[in-house]
Amino acid sequence: MSFNTFGRVFRFTTWGESHGPALGAVVDGCPPGLALSEGDIQPFLDKRRPGQSRFTTQRQEPDQVRILSGVFEGRTTGTPIALHIDNVDQRSKDYSEVAKAYRPGHADYAYDAKYGFRDYRGGGRSSARETAARVAAGAVARLVIPEVTILAWVEAIGGDAIDPANFDAAEIGNNPFFCPDAEAAKRWEALVDGARKAGSSLGAVIACEASGVPAGWGAPLYAKLDSELAAACMSINAVKGVEIGDGFAAAALTGERNADAMRPGNDGRPVFLANHAGGIAGGISTGQPVRVRVAFKPTSSILTPVETVTREGEATEIMTKGRHDPCVGIRGVPVVEAMVALVLADQKLLHRAQTG
Ligand SMILES: Cc1cc2nc3c(=O)[nH]c(=O)nc-3n(C[C@H](O)[C@H](O)[C@H](O)COP(=O)(O)O)c2cc1C
Repeated sequence: MSFNTFGRVFRFTTWGESHGPALGAVVDGCPPGLALSEGDIQPFLDKRRPGQSRFTTQRQEPDQVRILSGVFEGRTTGTPIALHIDNVDQRSKDYSEVAKAYRPGHADYAYDAKYGFRDYRGGGRSSARETAARVAAGAVARLVIPEVTILAWVEAIGGDAIDPANFDAAEIGNNPFFCPDAEAAKRWEALVDGARKAGSSLGAVIACEASGVPAGWGAPLYAKLDSELAAACMSINAVKGVEIGDGFAAAALTGERNADAMRPGNDGRPVFLANHAGGIAGGISTGQPVRVRVAFKPTSSILTPVETVTREGEATEIMTKGRHDPCVGIRGVPVVEAMVALVLADQKLLHRAQTG
């Protein structure tokens, strides 16, 4: 009933709030015998960590992970792996306004309507601090699928998209936006700075590609690989849209243009001439790269006053002070990668369980 757990065979549960002492994940169902240390997890947390540029929140969290269980002599034992991350830079006084009135676009009103009681400090459980736990769990998932390479990047900010002709994977780590187009990254500096200084915020589109996924992972109908990926990515805070392959654009294509034509390959497997399907057909991977696009809405905590109501139902305006991401999609990149890894690890184990 409480829905803090995701996955079927490779399962993880996250726990913790923004201003609590710590947060973390428990990964259950991980195969035994995998080499695992904090060093396998930390680089991914470092990518998501706040305060690394002026384009993200200035909250300073080292996000150092500790493995509390499930590992003996450097290898997974098959028992639950508890991952622990301290919160060290809370500033709860910034949230006195949020205690009294609801931020439109954030979870404040909905949490009150459901539970009648909420931890408003930093957004409590609805804070994206929770995504650190997903990223830690995702790093463990990657060890289950060494045959798969997962790469995500920002494709557009505030409606300004990269030029696909400029795509250079090596650029993604060279700028604060995870942007594969050096020219777009330059433009985005002014764009995001402008939004931040104006007390506003911007949305973003993240693209993610998983290559090396063999044909056969996933399931027909009620656990389609498409729907598992959509559920995983849609569960990320601030995500409002997920597309697989061409997604909505496929609806504008004709059948012959949308078809991923096939030719015989040398190894008995077909060679595909296109990948409109995003590497999935009938809910099952085809062996082509799995492609997902994720739309993040603009941050709702902004310095521009917005009309709202108090907890008592009186009209007021709210202007959210404190430290916030001017574009949450930027730090969403490692989170999307983690969720894709978690789904694929689960699907690999499910495929093995059914087909041997
Ligand atoms: C990496 C990341 C960072 C975020 N940072 C902020 C933030 O600084 N301020 C904020 O208001 N929302 C932030 N969010 C979004 C909220 O957590 C989210 O909007 C809120 O939980 C409401 O959920 P919903 O947008 O999915 O409806 C962030 C989301 C992500 C993924």
